[in-house]
Amino acid sequence: MSNIQDKVVIITGASSGIGAAAAKELAAKGAKLVLAARREERLEQLQKEIQNDGGQAIYKVTDVTSHEQMEELAAYALKEFGKIDVLVNNAGIMPQAFLFKKKVDEWDKMIDVNIKGVLYAIAAVLPSMRERKSGHIINLSSVAGHNIYPGGTVYCGTKYAVKAISEGLRQEEAISGTNIRVTNVSPGAVSSELLETTTDAETKTGLDDFYKIAIDADSIARAITFAVEQPSDVAINEMIIRPTVQVG
Ligand SMILES: NC(=O)c1ccc[n+]([C@@H]2O[C@H](COP(=O)([O-])OP(=O)(O)OC[C@H]3O[C@@H](n4cnc5c(N)ncnc54)[C@H](OP(=O)(O)O)[C@@H]3O)[C@@H](O)[C@H]2O)c1
Repeated sequence: MSNIQDKVVIITGASSGIGAAAAKELAAKGAKLVLAARREERLEQLQKEIQNDGGQAIYKVTDVTSHEQMEELAAYALKEFGKIDVLVNNAGIMPQAFLFKKKVDEWDKMIDVNIKGVLYAIAAVLPSMRERKSGHIINLSSVAGHNIYPGGTVYCGTKYAVKAISEGLRQEEAISGTNIRVTNVSPGAVSSELLETTTDAETKTGLDDFYKIAIDADSIARAITFAVEQPSDVAINEMIIRPTVQVG
């Protein structure tokens, strides 16, 4: 039997891109999916696709910037499926621009979604995982969590933060003997709707050009699946997945 069979997996940002691809891949391997994002019609559509392919999925409209909604999402998963095995902490935005453009609202949103959202999701799932002494938290950082580039300053800051949160959480759970695994996933350029969150025209033009080499979201879904399917005493802690031709 696959090590993914019957695992209950919450995915934030499941309405598109990497989150949706991971949901399909994990459902095909027998996981029970709890899909979360803000766009309900996308979640409903994905749920139907998974069910039509013989998989199991439920969804809950959730804004990760709300601590309360994240707690409600975890409670919903526990009510419907009785446990949470895996959190894929994937929701994120990337409105990039040079700092001098003073897009302060976008800085706030990035910090709220990419950092606070990740922490709220961890807070929501950790108590039940610790109680069961079992669980797996997968955080989506980025190559931007390893390298800094002009225009990406705040986005990189949020993704460095995700990497720090992953490593801190890993050490805390390891020292506590909870058997909770932590995986930090750092994709390079991946085709998705992420670029559409960049409003600065100049930056967007550069990004569109850079993303001509982008790989499919399925590539990251396969890496996430690989981490999930390892035996419970094996933790894949860090994964960097770039297009073969991506330099930085
Ligand atoms: N694509 C890349 O090149 C790349 C590279 C490195 C890292 N990443 C990271 O991978 C993750 C997934 O990105 P993607 O490429 O798949 O982009 P995407 O297609 O734009 O997906 C982002 C997801 O996040 C959700 N989201 C945004 N704000 C949210 C909020 N406040 N509450 C709940 N959900 C929210 C969106 O759903 P709703 O709008 O429906 O809420 C969407 O499902 C992100 O963390 C991103 O930073 C992507």
